[in-house]
Amino acid sequence: MSESSVPAFEASGLRKVFRDFWGRPRTVAVDGVSLRAEPGEVVGLLGPNGSGKSTTIKMLLGLLRPSAGSARLFGRDPRDPDARARVGYLPELSNLHKFLTPRETLAYYAGLFDLPAATRRKRIGALLERVGLAGPGADRPVGEFSKGMARRVGLAQALLNDPALVVLDEPTSGLDPIGRREVKDLILDLGRMGKTVLLSSHLLAEVSDVCTRVAILAGGRVRAEGRLADLLEERDRVRFTAAGLPDAAVPRVKDAIAAAGAASVSVDHPAATLEDFFLDVVGGTSK
Ligand SMILES: Nc1ncnc2c1ncn2[C@@H]1O[C@H](COP(=O)(O)OP(=O)(O)O)[C@@H](O)[C@H]1O
Ligand SMILES: [Mg+2]
Repeated sequence: MSESSVPAFEASGLRKVFRDFWGRPRTVAVDGVSLRAEPGEVVGLLGPNGSGKSTTIKMLLGLLRPSAGSARLFGRDPRDPDARARVGYLPELSNLHKFLTPRETLAYYAGLFDLPAATRRKRIGALLERVGLAGPGADRPVGEFSKGMARRVGLAQALLNDPALVVLDEPTSGLDPIGRREVKDLILDLGRMGKTVLLSSHLLAEVSDVCTRVAILAGGRVRAEGRLADLLEERDRVRFTAAGLPDAAVPRVKDAIAAAGAASVSVDHPAATLEDFFLDVVGGTSK
């Protein structure tokens, strides 16, 4: 297999059962997730809070041991140092040192990588610029920042080692609309640069347009997966305008369609969007 055909990441039947103090199974957080990305794909892991996104990501990165199944990064064990060196990770909650400035924070983490000092300085400057922190903010302690600003520092940190695979857990959380737009642009840029991106979000509309493929998670399982356009197309829809029908007729029309064998029948409004699709797939499936 040539290097370029090795999936950037691959989860096979990942499962995680969290146990209580007495070792009794308490929560099945992830229940058989298989997911992979070819190099250059931007994969969205979407699902409501508690659906198992962060747990899946942590198992993929070798930070959490699966109860069953396996994870590979570039065809290797996720704890393999060579595999790890090619990954950048923005955790759901990044623990930034409150008393360091963004520049100092990045310098600290850059010091963990074997980079010449000049390269390091240049890269830090470029990344601060890229995440919109190049101004005086770069030299103010992170502790004074809003959640959104801290998120930007975390993003820059995840890119310090120029990773081939970038894993972003809820990258837009805490950001205002402008910040979200900037993060989306950044993700699009990463895709254009040929990087593989795995990002999670509980807000479908927020990230769906930057993903080449999405997997929708609910109750620890992948409920739908594919290119968004295909996912939406697969679902045949019967459309009619209810205007003019008496209200009482609408349920009867629904029943008739269901009786004819339709898998799911719903009444939607002209503004029906992706968000509806997301809610449909997720609705009623969570534990
Ligand atoms: N360390 C843990 N111990 C026990 N339960 C956990 C732990 N981490 C996550 N869970 C539970 O596992 C489920 C999935 O959590 P998580 O992966 O964080 O979901 P998401 O990232 O989609 O919000 C939730 O029910 C959560 O409460
Ligand atoms: Mg999470």
